[in-house]
Parts: sequence; structure tokens; C-alpha cells
Amino acid sequence: MIRPAVRLAVPLLALAAGLSAGELPRASPAAADDLRVSGLFQSTADGSVKYLPRSALLALPGVTHLHEKPADSIAAADLTVLPIPRLLEAVPLAPGADGLVLVCSDRWETMMPLDLARTVHPYLMLEYAGRTPAQGWPRFSPVEGLAPYYSNWSPALGPRDASGTPYGEFDATQIVEIRAVNMRERYAPFYSGPLAHLSPEASEGRKLFIKECNMCHPGPQGVGGNTSQRPIAVLEVHATLNAAYFRRMVTNPKQFFPQTVMPTHEYFTPQMMSQLVAFLTEARAAGVN
Ligand code: HEC
Repeated sequence: MIRPAVRLAVPLLALAAGLSAGELPRASPAAADDLRVSGLFQSTADGSVKYLPRSALLALPGVTHLHEKPADSIAAADLTVLPIPRLLEAVPLAPGADGLVLVCSDRWETMMPLDLARTVHPYLMLEYAGRTPAQGWPRFSPVEGLAPYYSNWSPALGPRDASGTPYGEFDATQIVEIRAVNMRERYAPFYSGPLAHLSPEASEGRKLFIKECNMCHPGPQGVGGNTSQRPIAVLEVHATLNAAYFRRMVTNPKQFFPQTVMPTHEYFTPQMMSQLVAFLTEARAAGVN
């Protein structure tokens, strides 16, 4: 028989553990470079934002070391990394979550489908050569840092999925937040309302926009990243009223903006370019902005 005092002690202990300083994620930030989590995590499904201090991430059981180049532009070093599937063991997802949006300090947003994350085991870099960003991280490029968090794929952790993702790249620099989402819900504005009925050509262009542009250019209802400060309505105007410039700009933006982070799309065939223009033209005609 369990004595009443013991019966009472058990829930009290559980409560004390729940409130202990070690629990993740935290309700308030401990440092400026805490990783934020939001969206469809069990702990944030109420709409809150929570925080993961780097020190707490470094103490998680899944943390491991790789010796390799984190990117082509950066020297090989000992990397302290947390595979993203292991992060999800410490910070579990809520029902319905099937994608992770990596939100970056420059408002780049990339989408990592969960099934891909579980196959490829991308990592979150916590230390470079044993150093935190405050102790000095290399830059990704003259115009782009790596810190506070960087994600990439390593052959030591999982197979690269050669098919890539329909939502753009899944590696990201300067990550400040991971937002768990339901992919269908996230992309609903692209497929409903004024965009529910596109021509086949424009539908192909929509796929291209989501894969190649939406990390930096917000789509309908602001879905996506905004590194560019030029939402879809601006692109619609260029594509319809300024078509020659649009094509040259998309093919090679550096000719107009030498320092731009916008990638070149020299591999775009004339057909792909026409599909993209068809999407933006039909979106404009339908009043999408
Ligand atoms: C990595 C981020 C990024 C991606 C991806 C990207 N862009 Fe951009 N884009 C920018 C930025 C940033 C600017 C603003 C120019 C600047 O200051 O660098 C821009 C500007 C533009 C402009 C306007 C140029 C002007 O004169 O104001 C157009 C048009 C454009 N992008 C089209 C596209 C299209 C179409 C795609 C997809 C095929 C795309 N971009 C993908 C970052 C991006």
C-alpha cells in the first residue's frame, strides 16, 4: 500500500523536475544567441516562442564531433554538432508537424521537410574548432556570416538525398529560430483563393518560385523569407512591366547588384523563365500581393 505522504511526494517531485532550470525549452532567453523555437512543437503549440541556450544544446545526449569543412568556403575543423533528429528528441514536435522552417537573422527562411531531416540527419553547428561564435567563427562569405547557428549535411551522419527538396535548400547560415509547421498549411496561400486555378504553365512557375525564390521573396500573404525586402507583388510588376530586365536580373543579379546574396540562375532554361513569368503574371491578374 502506498502511504498518502508518498503519493503526494511523487507529483510534487514531478512538478519540481518540470520547473527545474535544466528543462528545455526555456520560457525566457538566457543569452542573445539562444536558439528560438516556435510553431508546432509540444512546448510552443500554444503560439508561444521558447528558447534553447547554446550551453543547454551542447549538453544534449546527441551532440557529436565531425572533422570536416562546414562549407566549401571554410577551412576544415573540429565541429561540435547536434543532429536535428536528436534535437527533436529533446524538444518534441506536436501532432501535425511535418516540416521545420529555419529562420535566419537576415530573414532568409528555408524549409526542411521532416522526412528528409530524418533521412539525411542534417546537423546544427554549435561550435567551430571548439569555439562559440562569441569566441570567433569564420564567415561564410564577405556578405554572409555563419553565426549564431548553421545547418548543413555531413556524409558522416547520413546519406545526401540527391532529389533535393521542393522548398529550396535545407542548409542555412545565421539561423536564429526553428519553426515547426504543417507544410500543407504553410503553403496553403499558394494553392487557394486567387491562386487556386492557374494554367499548367503557371503551376510549373509556382513550383519554381517556391523552390528558388521563396527563401528570400515573400509569397502570397507573406509566406516565406524576406531577405530581399521585395515581396511577390514587386516581382509581379517586374515580370509583367519590365520583362527584359526581370529575365536578366534573375539570370545574373550580380550584373545589377554586385554585392547581392541573390543567386544566379544561369541554368534556367527559356522554358523555366517563361513558367516563372506566367506564374507572376497570373498572380498579378488575380490580385495577389
Ligand atoms: C538568397 C536570397 C534570394 C533568392 C533565393 C532570390 N532573390 Fe531576388 N533578390 C534578393 C535580394 C537581396 C534582392 C535585392 C537586391 C539586393 O540588394 O541585393 C533581390 C531582388 C530581386 C528583384 C528586384 C530587382 C530590383 O531591381 O529591385 C527581382 C525581380 C528578383 N529578386 C527576382 C528573384 C526571383 C524570380 C528569384 C527566384 C528565381 C529570386 N529573386 C531569388 C535575394 C534573393
